[in-house]
Amino acid sequence: MTRIVYVNGAYKRYAEAAVHVEDRGFQFADAIYEVIEVRDGHLVDASRHLARMARSLRELAIPAPMSDAALSQVIQQVIRRNRVRDGIVYMQVTRGAGPRDFTLPPPGFLPTLVILARTQRKGWSAELAETGISVKTIPDNRWARCDIKTVMLLPAVLAKDEARRNGSKEAWFVDAVGNVTEGASSNAWIVTAGGTLVTHPLDQRILPGVTRATVMDVAKAEGLKIEERNFSREEALQAREAFVTSATNIVMPVVKIDGMPVGDGRPGPLAHRLRIRFHHVAEISAG
Ligand code: PDD
Repeated sequence: MTRIVYVNGAYKRYAEAAVHVEDRGFQFADAIYEVIEVRDGHLVDASRHLARMARSLRELAIPAPMSDAALSQVIQQVIRRNRVRDGIVYMQVTRGAGPRDFTLPPPGFLPTLVILARTQRKGWSAELAETGISVKTIPDNRWARCDIKTVMLLPAVLAKDEARRNGSKEAWFVDAVGNVTEGASSNAWIVTAGGTLVTHPLDQRILPGVTRATVMDVAKAEGLKIEERNFSREEALQAREAFVTSATNIVMPVVKIDGMPVGDGRPGPLAHRLRIRFHHVAEISAG
């Protein structure tokens, strides 16, 4: 249970933490966010997350609410005040609050910053990885700038709900020509019959996942071959293994796509190896 939340310069009790009713994040989804894993009281890949957050802000011309150094201090405070050892930090920056207006506000408009930390039971994702997850493919109906981590998440929310109603834990978005772009809240990967890792190239159709980047570092260190290219649902169904990556799931095996088994229908060895090696390679910093 989150007890203390940082909101615009103050540490508030969870029940009392609030932003303005005319916050642009609320009215226009004019906002970006980040999710960082907390593990054994430390932040995982904080530098990459902060760099991506800075990029998201730049792309939308939202001013940074504070320096990275100050942000790191606040993150540490929020983790400490909530006594989180294992869980996540969630950060959201909106363009700020003011009378509803599609026109962007003038320079000097103050952004809104919210940071919360939440405990998650240690080991939940390792347990889930033992059985793996099912995914459901869904047409990708998101906007054309999925490389920016905005809170405009309604397509992901609805896709995940449809997946869940079909017994799947995650949705895989498929573009107009049949290629899998990414998961609703994860990056999508397959392993070919030859043992090559394949994931969608970095462009405006997918989020440049931090876990994706670190898994690439792990794969390189393990001498594995990686191809950043398109793959279709059909290729994924023929793959030896499939998995998703995200800060919350790390590496999560996918054992079924649209009800059909991937490989032998059990979590694969490569996904397992990447998962085990992940935290040896990821940046672990004070939290
Ligand atoms: N989601 N793609 C999408 C659309 C995502 O929402 C996420 C993360 C990722 C993986 O990115 P990373 O490895 O940096 O977590 C890919 C977060 C966890 C969320 O929305 O909760």
